[in-house]
Amino acid sequence: MAGVEREIIDRIEKTGRITKEELSILLLSSDDKSMDYLAKRAGETTLRHYGNKIYIRGLIEFTNYCRNDCYYCGIRKSNRNAKRYRLSEEEILSAAGLGYRLGFRTFVLQGGEDPWFTDEKICALVSAVKSDHPDCAVTLSIGEKKRDSYQAYFDAGADRYLLRHETADEVHYRKLHPPDLALSNRIRCLSELKEIGYQTGCGFMVGSPGQTMETLFLDLSLIQELSPHMVGIGPFIPHKDTPFCREAPGTLERTLRLLSIIRLIHPKVLLPATTALGTIHPDGRKRGILAGANVVMPNLTPQHVREKYELYNGKASFGEEAAEGLGALSEELKRIGYQIAVDIGDSKVPIVCGRRWPKIAAQK
Ligand code: 5AD
Repeated sequence: MAGVEREIIDRIEKTGRITKEELSILLLSSDDKSMDYLAKRAGETTLRHYGNKIYIRGLIEFTNYCRNDCYYCGIRKSNRNAKRYRLSEEEILSAAGLGYRLGFRTFVLQGGEDPWFTDEKICALVSAVKSDHPDCAVTLSIGEKKRDSYQAYFDAGADRYLLRHETADEVHYRKLHPPDLALSNRIRCLSELKEIGYQTGCGFMVGSPGQTMETLFLDLSLIQELSPHMVGIGPFIPHKDTPFCREAPGTLERTLRLLSIIRLIHPKVLLPATTALGTIHPDGRKRGILAGANVVMPNLTPQHVREKYELYNGKASFGEEAAEGLGALSEELKRIGYQIAVDIGDSKVPIVCGRRWPKIAAQK
């Protein structure tokens, strides 16, 4: 069996493609040696394209108000126990200033879908960060918006946008979200973001309730079709105040295997070792990097609100997960042969703006 698995891994590396059958063989394998080999092939692929540099992004979680009610998420609107906060523009700029002094050259402004932050406010915020730090990239991660809004943020200076697709399967999407949210709208958003010229990130949770080999295969197919600049994946972790409170979490092993597979089918993508991966296992982030990840996003949110951005229980936000812990993180990475990059860290996936993603074009 082990020989078969190695053959599959070599074939995926060579062709950049994977079949549904190959995916389930790799995800269900109990052969540790083959899985070490998978991680090794993925790690070497990352080294070939990005060297031993790990890109850092400073994450500023600026609002936990959200108009959506996703069944998995701790800041869903019907969670009455969530303590809500919004950062002022001053607080956000001061977090970015601190990040800059620490060595960050990308700021990720993430929040729930909070209508209080109108397009005007978001544009003002983006241009303020850009004018304070013209040598930095600004990434937005604020959910589904109209095309004109995405265009306005881009014109105000936003460079990148993260919007996980969560699952590429319609039926599964409906199990994770209330009826007012639709996969087709997510896809519309991702397509428009790319078309406008954003470096765009999609992604999904590993082990979300109802996920199957079939849905994961669709996730990988979507990644191949969309060719995003970044793919964020991390284990699903239950939150006690959500309908999924009793569901089992996703596993470290499966997340690592999927990271490696994504690296092999989309070699130049930016692949973060996410906070959820670091939360589920103390070595999660390190193992993620050894399995092909090349980005970490330490938390720059002001400490007095940090614990309130609780997407899932136990979410790590201090120590090496925090921007203040950058020294410790750097030491940890050095021990495994990697170093933190000080540059802006653009994706090596080419930006093809103005072109519609084929699937969307076909739907029209
Ligand atoms: N477990 C893991 N990840 C989660 N997210 C939201 N809720 C959870 C959870 N319970 C992820 C989603 C979202 C991102 C910001 O956080 O994939 O897109």
